[in-house]
Amino acid sequence: MTDYINEFCMHDATCGELRKSDVGREVTLCGWAWHNRDHGGLIFCDLRDRTGYTQVVVDPDCVPEEDFHKAEHLGREYALQITGTVRDRGADAVNPNMATGEIEVLASKVNVLNESVTPPFSIEDGIETDETTRMKWRYMDLRRPEMYQSLRLRHTVAQAMRAALNERGFIEVETPILANSTPEGARDYLVPSRPNPGKFYALPQSPQQFKQMLMVGGVERYYQIARCFRDEDLRADRQPEFTQVDIEMSFVQETDVMDLMEGVFKEVLAAAGVQHEFPLQRMPWKEAMDRFGCDRPDVRFGMELVELTDIVRGCGFGVFSKAVEAGNVVKCINAKGAGNWSRGDIEKLADVAAANGAKGMAWIAYTDADAELAGKSPIIKFLGDEVHGAIKQAAGVEPGDLLLFAADTYDTASAVLSALRLHMAEALNIPREGHALLWVVDFPMFKYDEEEKKYAAEHHPFTMIPEADWDKIETDPLACSSYSYDIVMDGFEMGGGSIRIHNAELQKRVLRRLGVEDEQMEEKFGHLIHALELGAPPHGGIALGLDRLVMLLAGKQSIRDVIAFPKTSSASDPMTGAPNAVTGRQLKEVSLRLL
Ligand code: AMO
Ligand code: AMP
Repeated sequence: MTDYINEFCMHDATCGELRKSDVGREVTLCGWAWHNRDHGGLIFCDLRDRTGYTQVVVDPDCVPEEDFHKAEHLGREYALQITGTVRDRGADAVNPNMATGEIEVLASKVNVLNESVTPPFSIEDGIETDETTRMKWRYMDLRRPEMYQSLRLRHTVAQAMRAALNERGFIEVETPILANSTPEGARDYLVPSRPNPGKFYALPQSPQQFKQMLMVGGVERYYQIARCFRDEDLRADRQPEFTQVDIEMSFVQETDVMDLMEGVFKEVLAAAGVQHEFPLQRMPWKEAMDRFGCDRPDVRFGMELVELTDIVRGCGFGVFSKAVEAGNVVKCINAKGAGNWSRGDIEKLADVAAANGAKGMAWIAYTDADAELAGKSPIIKFLGDEVHGAIKQAAGVEPGDLLLFAADTYDTASAVLSALRLHMAEALNIPREGHALLWVVDFPMFKYDEEEKKYAAEHHPFTMIPEADWDKIETDPLACSSYSYDIVMDGFEMGGGSIRIHNAELQKRVLRRLGVEDEQMEEKFGHLIHALELGAPPHGGIALGLDRLVMLLAGKQSIRDVIAFPKTSSASDPMTGAPNAVTGRQLKEVSLRLL
């Protein structure tokens, strides 16, 4: 990538490109003084720009005296312009760890473009500096080569997305940021409207309703690299503002969207240097829940959930038999290789189970020496040999295995064992190399929100229900399926979408089921319903989490590492200090008073 070096800049080469074949060339480089060393009269400086770094040698015999003086007083991170000649380092001095390690530049001119105070931390990859410090001085953090590589990868992925979608007839359309509330399940960020006292915009949680309007508007194929805002509890894979590649198309069915997207994924992954098998697996939601306990399974390793409900029905261990009697389930995972763990270490796993709602965590351990598979556990004596034998068979037990059990409602048992499965994969260092993408399909339309005591949409309220289930909307909502799909990558929900309801009456029935009263219907969703009444085409789409995709491709643990200016877990920016207090006058202008 040297094509940006031309007559419109102060340098004619980059710090990462020079090789042996350039020996003898006179070059001008610009960059930052990285490591400076004074070797008995000769000054060495590793000059760094975004492409890499080159060793510069300043010899008092080759530069004006004034320039040598400047070189003697170089500090770290000074911005420099160096002119000199590329020369061979000689066999002894070659640095094989450096792309430009065979050459160096003998300076003839040293120009200090700007000085630097002592940097807050050293500009190195893999630094230990705490994240708040890195975020306070984010522009210094961005000087680290790995940060630039992540931003560059993000750019490559975004451009590949655009190219793949452009080729398929999509056009990029911008939708408003000052918008109204759209239900995606998080709290809204509100913006007061000065000309409309007491009224607020909501920043979009996604462009969902606008993209549907674009379909009603005849655009047929839309995309947008869209900023979305959600006021929710933050985690490593969640930011209050994040980016979706948002996509919608008309006159399509579910398989059309998935098939088309697979072509897009293939091109985008190839641009990022990743090969993956296509077509992708399409796993029904129920199967994902049964086998992995979650709707975003990491399928790069096994340790699947084992169903034991029928085996332990009526057994002598009360925790299990009572759970079954109450209509709950009993399941386990088999963590191979953990059977030799100490009792104390095994018991500590109960904390992981408890954090996910378990009331306890029964276990059975089989050491490597336990050829008979007698097992070690306080519960064996209650289970009896027959039930214990059937459990061993169902879980494929061998010496060295550890069984971890959950006896609970289907949802809690799934959550507990899914968390334990991931925890054990980490603890046992189970290899999870490469990338695994799959679709999870056939989500239920509704779930019951115990806290709010009402039905909620599993995806969002605009998702189409298969016609065969329409009569269950009122009578048996939890049995309604939906035309929806998530794209899962390495155990993360990378994207999700659905076919939408294009029939106004059906949309109203779904909204009523979600507790929207008729009088609110017009106010909150009138625009959508009227649009559906005016010949809305069948349509559907998807939104991909760009931050998550790039995080996974870059091999990072947090989306903060692939966002130029991210926020902390308390949704603030240590660099600018946002969010900030505002003056009384500003508040008055928007008719607000603080509590
Ligand atoms: P959904 O809510 O599933 O669907 O969001 C789509 C994708 O956006 C990413 N994502 C996030 N990334 C970072 N931080 C967050 N706080 C965050 N929240 C979501 C995820 C997720 O899969 N309108 C629908 C899409 C549709 O139906 O077309 C929607 O927004 O990767
Ligand atoms: P208790 O009878 O409550 O002392 O529990 C006996 C064993 O069963 C302990 O190891 C508990 O951790 C475990 N246990 C209790 N409740 C559950 C549950 N819901 N699922 C799995 N194990 C449990």
